[in-house]
Amino acid sequence: MNAEKKVNWGILGTAKIAADRLIPAFHESKISDLVAVASRHEDRAMEFADQHQIPRAYGSYDELLADNSIDAVYIPLPNHLHREWAIRAMEEGKHVLCEKPLSTSTDDGVAMFEACGKNNVLLMEGFMYRFHPQTQRVRELLAQGTIGQPRLIRVAHSFPLILQDRNDDFRWNKEFGGGSLADVGVYCVDTARHLFSADPIKVFAQSTYHPDHSAEAETRAILTFPDDRVAVFDSSFLLTGRREYEVVGDKGRITAFDTYNPGRGADVRIEIEQGGMKTVEKVPATNEYRLEIDHLSTCIIRGERPIITREDSIGNLRVLDALRESAHVGVPVEIAVAD
Ligand SMILES: NC(=O)c1ccc[n+]([C@@H]2O[C@H](COP(=O)([O-])OP(=O)(O)OC[C@H]3O[C@@H](n4cnc5c(N)ncnc54)[C@H](OP(=O)(O)O)[C@@H]3O)[C@@H](O)[C@H]2O)c1
Repeated sequence: MNAEKKVNWGILGTAKIAADRLIPAFHESKISDLVAVASRHEDRAMEFADQHQIPRAYGSYDELLADNSIDAVYIPLPNHLHREWAIRAMEEGKHVLCEKPLSTSTDDGVAMFEACGKNNVLLMEGFMYRFHPQTQRVRELLAQGTIGQPRLIRVAHSFPLILQDRNDDFRWNKEFGGGSLADVGVYCVDTARHLFSADPIKVFAQSTYHPDHSAEAETRAILTFPDDRVAVFDSSFLLTGRREYEVVGDKGRITAFDTYNPGRGADVRIEIEQGGMKTVEKVPATNEYRLEIDHLSTCIIRGERPIITREDSIGNLRVLDALRESAHVGVPVEIAVAD
């Protein structure tokens, strides 16, 4: 693609996250055109397209994938469908932005990246928080040695799905790749790996189940990294909303608030404690979803590699698999060195 061209995007499904966040971001982007949406039901596709000013509506995902004018596809389907539809899209020559978690197992993720390589397209997992200047500022502070050697990361990501009238939400369904670990724990795992720039070598997890639902509802975990560094996190559908992390070093600590999906127009905060002094930095509101889309569109136009890589996504999936195994067997699980 040449530098003049915009990237034409299509969306598979009429997901809430697409309506709430991604579609406004597509409309804001100057280098991306949202040209089509597909639904399993034609009337739903048409209504959704009408509501969101999307030019074309398809009554099946296959029809959208057959549209040769579409360069890239956004996949916000229930997690168990990510593998199938991402691979089908890539086999049709489309680049793919796939929602988190990339898939429901490491094997599925590996198959997705194989299809990516074979079809010479780009595949990126949708971690919008990575594009938020708050995340980039924390990484900068760590690189500057602001808190000395980071040795402990503590992440919390929860929301009370249990109090919401959403019993049919795929998140409650194990067969659909639901569960708090897959839904919000994946952010905690990615944050710990991203901020330590390393992979854990051992994990331990405990999970809680709700009697009415098959998917795990809450998980508490310890990730052991090389050089005695540790991350602890909890993910939950049973607790009030918390989206924050703390990085602790020998010379201080950094705490970041409202770290994942803070809401449109919301400023966010970073607190830095060093030598008994506390500084509060305000990071102005931004549309991290628009930055995410712009990044992948730019990579498509220029033929560059996205900043969220295969190693990031496969590494997260390995950790999630190990955490599920640990919660199941009740003891820590070691993680083999990545290939
Ligand atoms: N990055 C973020 O901030 C963020 C936030 C929320 C969710 N997510 C991710 O986005 C994805 C979608 O989440 P969501 O809550 O937006 O989903 P949702 O509202 O439940 O929508 C999922 C869509 O998938 C389609 N679908 C196809 N087969 C389905 C099936 N068997 N059951 C249900 N829906 C089916 C439906 O569209 P049609 O019926 O029209 O085909 C449906 O609208 C998940 O992977 C989630 O982890 C990301």
